[in-house]
Amino acid sequence: MPNTDWLPAAELADVPPGTAAEAVVGDAIVALVNVNGDIHALDGMCAHQGGPLGRGKLEGCTLTCPWHGWQYDAMTGQQLLSQHIRQRRYPVRIEGGTILVRLSDG
Ligand code: FES
Repeated sequence: MPNTDWLPAAELADVPPGTAAEAVVGDAIVALVNVNGDIHALDGMCAHQGGPLGRGKLEGCTLTCPWHGWQYDAMTGQQLLSQHIRQRRYPVRIEGGTILVRLSDG
């Protein structure tokens, strides 16, 4: 059964602007990114070979996988070289300084 709850992923203070962070949310590994104060959440396992995107480097809105350098638009999850590859995005909400993520819209 899909989990439709909002689950705590991290404290907002732990993901300052211009950074990415890895979080385990429920049964998912999530990459949290802070692009100019806006938090986005992507599937944290790179579509290439499962590299940890949350430990990647964020420059502007480009998130670079630390393993082999695949790059994604951190806001949309779109891989920058292939239109056919897009990381899943999760809805995000901030509540009382905590980043909440919903794993499913189900
Ligand atoms: S696992 Fe991310 S670029 Fe290879």
